[in-house]
Amino acid sequence: MFKIIRVKDAEEGGKKAFELIKEGIENGAQVLGLATGSTPETLYQEMVKSDVDFSNCVSINLDEYIGLSGDNDQSYRYFMNSHLFNQKPFKATYVPNGKAEDLAAECRHYEEILANHPIDIQILGIGENAHIGFNEPGTPFDAPTQVVELTESTINANKRNFEKIEDVPTTAISMGIGSIMKSKKVILIAYGEAKAEAIANTINGEITIDVPASVLQNHPDVTIILDDAAASKLA
Ligand code: F6R
Repeated sequence: MFKIIRVKDAEEGGKKAFELIKEGIENGAQVLGLATGSTPETLYQEMVKSDVDFSNCVSINLDEYIGLSGDNDQSYRYFMNSHLFNQKPFKATYVPNGKAEDLAAECRHYEEILANHPIDIQILGIGENAHIGFNEPGTPFDAPTQVVELTESTINANKRNFEKIEDVPTTAISMGIGSIMKSKKVILIAYGEAKAEAIANTINGEITIDVPASVLQNHPDVTIILDDAAASKLA
């Protein structure tokens, strides 16, 4: 059973998500699984302006584009540094290395990081096709961190951040669904009409690899934060 929190907008959603993280840290959480994209931006704003100390926390991000280095302003490492880590020091911050020469070794290395730092609270956004991380429809539920091909839907959704569509990377390294499912607690956040169908399928649909986020029905501790538009197709 999901715990669903309805909010009026992303600002309130960011505050709610932040309260859950703060409570988690007060209760001993030390490893945060983090996401990029527009959805968690208001959460990171709350974290930045709070007086919560994250210097004993470790963060592990979901994914990174292949081919972009951390100083490229489209990379997810750059996003995390500029939205959160530059303002709030963490003990350690992990984002997959999109420039790794040996990508398979980088994926194995990331799995070791996850094994050494089990995630206490995982923040997730969701794709219009219900991807979590960059695990697109069809990804096996037990997949570890791996190299993934992005679907047309994801490339289209992400092009808003690039000058032209040809600039959007077509591959990424993503934490696998198996890795995400090992997190003790998951907070999935969705705003806007474009996410409504993915949310309805995730919550009310069958559990299927065609709807990656539907796997969360098998997780014991998932909170979903939704605005009205994202909740508009729920029965
Ligand atoms: C980002 C990630 C993706 C996004 C999803 C939604 O690290 O893993 O799954 O959460 O694509 O993106 P936004 O929030 O930009 O709509």
